[in-house]
Amino acid sequence: MADQPSPEISPAELAALAARLGQPAFERRLQVQHQLETDPESDEAGPINVQRMVQKMRVLAGILHATGLAGWGRRNMRDVCRRENILRLRGLPAAFRGAHLLHLSDLHADMDPGTVPAVIRAITGWEYDAIVLTGDYRAHTRHEWATALALCGEVARALRPGVPAFAVLGNHDPLEMVPGLEALGWRVLLNEALPWRRGGAELWLAGVDDDHTYGTADVARARSAVPAGACAVLLSHTPSIYADAASAGFAGFLCGHTHGGQICLPGGFALLNNARAPRWTLRGPWEFQGMSGYTSVGAGACRVPARFFCQPEVTRHTLE
Ligand SMILES: [Fe+2]
Repeated sequence: MADQPSPEISPAELAALAARLGQPAFERRLQVQHQLETDPESDEAGPINVQRMVQKMRVLAGILHATGLAGWGRRNMRDVCRRENILRLRGLPAAFRGAHLLHLSDLHADMDPGTVPAVIRAITGWEYDAIVLTGDYRAHTRHEWATALALCGEVARALRPGVPAFAVLGNHDPLEMVPGLEALGWRVLLNEALPWRRGGAELWLAGVDDDHTYGTADVARARSAVPAGACAVLLSHTPSIYADAASAGFAGFLCGHTHGGQICLPGGFALLNNARAPRWTLRGPWEFQGMSGYTSVGAGACRVPARFFCQPEVTRHTLE
């Protein structure tokens, strides 16, 4: 799909997003987005030296081509699997026991033409009762995003109709994508929370903006939207804020961002950890202070169109 002009966002839409995100986070987000757009040296802002990581990935891409491994890596990248997880949540209302939550992360939809068809193949025919999306809809961290949005539309049309969908932005996604994502039926949580209702009961889904590049995750603000004592799950792009989430009383934490390392050694040992979080949060299920977490390795890939020993996934959580 060729690059498309990104739709304009009106001042009124922007003001509404500011009110939802919180003014300090809104201003910081726009400032970092501007920096990304205008400074070719700043691939991503943030304490991690991502520039050095990008250089390593470019070297890696060269090695893959030189050794003939690029084709294998690309085939691995398009081999999206279904992964099942049991998510045990303290205080889960009985009406939600056994409910299925589809979790999509790190689509990077415009990275490779094989990604979206592979995701659609993986989700088609699966049963689930709600959907969560933990960010990184776009391949790059700057410039146009309309192509990624159009490809997300293809994914949205393959999802079960009428199923509630809750999303957060990742470090590759501009704030201006929010109206387009919400037009797909994906309610983006900008330091906000909403209830998922089932059988007369509620499970609260809270979501924060991206902590990795933008530093705009406001866990307290998201939590303050949840009624006291209610069972709540926090959506975050990156696992980096796991300790804040546990302290705030969330029963569950769902995230992505790490790609499980994406390029791993046999056995799945990740060569890179791109998150400011311990390695035990790099992939799959984990626990911290009574909070059940899960880090999706993601459905797509970025930087290098390849995966090794780290199969891309779509995830289904069964709630208990
Ligand atoms: Fe990602």
